[in-house]
Amino acid sequence: MRRFTWGIILGVVLVLTACGKEESEGGLMPSEDFLVIAHRGASAYVPENTLASYGLAEELDANYIELDIHLTKDGQLAVMHDADVSGTTEANGKISEFTLAELKELSANFRHDDKEKKTVNGPSEDYAVPTLGEVFGQFGDNMNFIIELKDPKDYPGIEEKLVDALKEHDMIGFDENKHPKVAIQSFSEKGLKRVHELNQDIPLLKLISFDEDEVAKLSKKELDDLSTYASGIGVSFEALRVPFIKEMHDKGLAVYAYTIIDAETALKMKAIGANGIHTDRPDILGE
Ligand code: G3P
Ligand code: CA
Repeated sequence: MRRFTWGIILGVVLVLTACGKEESEGGLMPSEDFLVIAHRGASAYVPENTLASYGLAEELDANYIELDIHLTKDGQLAVMHDADVSGTTEANGKISEFTLAELKELSANFRHDDKEKKTVNGPSEDYAVPTLGEVFGQFGDNMNFIIELKDPKDYPGIEEKLVDALKEHDMIGFDENKHPKVAIQSFSEKGLKRVHELNQDIPLLKLISFDEDEVAKLSKKELDDLSTYASGIGVSFEALRVPFIKEMHDKGLAVYAYTIIDAETALKMKAIGANGIHTDRPDILGE
């Protein structure tokens, strides 16, 4: 009888160990590796949030592609930074006022911050506004993603659509390096908590902004609340200091610094213990 009981206990332990194998140590986000996250793709070199910018991010060996999602008038998940198409296309108006077919007529072929709107030539499909499904179709097998839920309050039901899309494209889970295939980030606590209600296997990263010259700090209440749903945080790099990062790690939260454009700052973030950087230049560390 005693042998039988020990057999059951051993069996349970083995099953639990096997189940936990896919997760990286200390939480859903990797605790050891320093991640280079291609912010809007390789957006320093190629128009942001296009298949072309993600293709270059892959070529440059980024660990993750960061992208931003919105809902079209007909309820499709479209990828663009702004809620308004005027920032990167030739048209004006909100994404939510365009059907996907109408959005596909546009060309996202100039840089977001280029006031002269100089266009880039290339195959039109590479510079069309992509859907999330198209991005997964082209890059999902080889790349991992950090998906930003932009303004979810303006898009009722976007969290459900996102989780459904992740399931449909088999993007929930880990790659061979034990890195999550997808993490979701947002400034919206409500949006992240809604995702957490829907699925607890998707790592969530709370974006937090601090005022200029402010040093990152969170109250005990804020930290305790974060710990109920988040696997990490994204913080403007200027605010990050060693003690804060240590405090987050002690709580099991990974820390990602945004948005870095020079190698010196990238190396500094690595040296102070950040878990990764969002950068427009995924080749920033020359690796
Ligand atoms: O990746 C962090 C960053 O995405 C938040 O800023 O404006 O580029 O979406 P933004
Ligand atoms: Ca973003």
